[in-house]
Amino acid sequence: MKRANRWWIGLVILAVLPVLPAACNNPPDASSPANTTTNGSNTVGNPIIGEQLFQQTQQFVPNAPPCETCHVIEAGADPIVGPNLHGIATVAGTRVPGQSAEEYLRMSIVAPNDYIVEGYQPGIMARTYDTLLTDAQINDLVAYMLTLE
Ligand code: HEC
Repeated sequence: MKRANRWWIGLVILAVLPVLPAACNNPPDASSPANTTTNGSNTVGNPIIGEQLFQQTQQFVPNAPPCETCHVIEAGADPIVGPNLHGIATVAGTRVPGQSAEEYLRMSIVAPNDYIVEGYQPGIMARTYDTLLTDAQINDLVAYMLTLE
């Protein structure tokens, strides 16, 4: 009887062994470059997530007013409370001397009163995004606005 038991245990081990290397391959996959691009360099965001954040900010971040309530993005559409952001990807780099489009867009979220667009009043765009949004979310919003050419 003892011999018979060991024989079966041996079979079970043989059956499991080929599965082990596959299981061990999973952890390296989780940190593959494809998964680190959003936060890896801390500047490259995901424009698709950024678009969702722009449209439904409060769904991701309670208490954060949605960008879309004040900004339209359609060419030629009448602005609502804030400027129409159609073409902002191109305009952004021309707003503040020395600031790239990416830097200007980042500043316009975290410190909206640093530069006031002509014809608009300071203090209307929420100044709370700096603390409410994570760095990754700000990167995603910037990446999205860089697609609004
Ligand atoms: C309550 C209304 C309001 C909300 C909400 C709002 N903004 Fe604004 N935004 C404004 C106003 C008003 C201005 C123009 C004054 C200024 O320059 O700060 C502006 C300016 C900007 C500019 C500069 C535009 C240009 O032509 O240079 C950007 C970019 C911008 N907002 C992005 C955002 C993003 C991204 C969000 C969401 C995270 C957002 N805004 C939410 C009102 C708003």
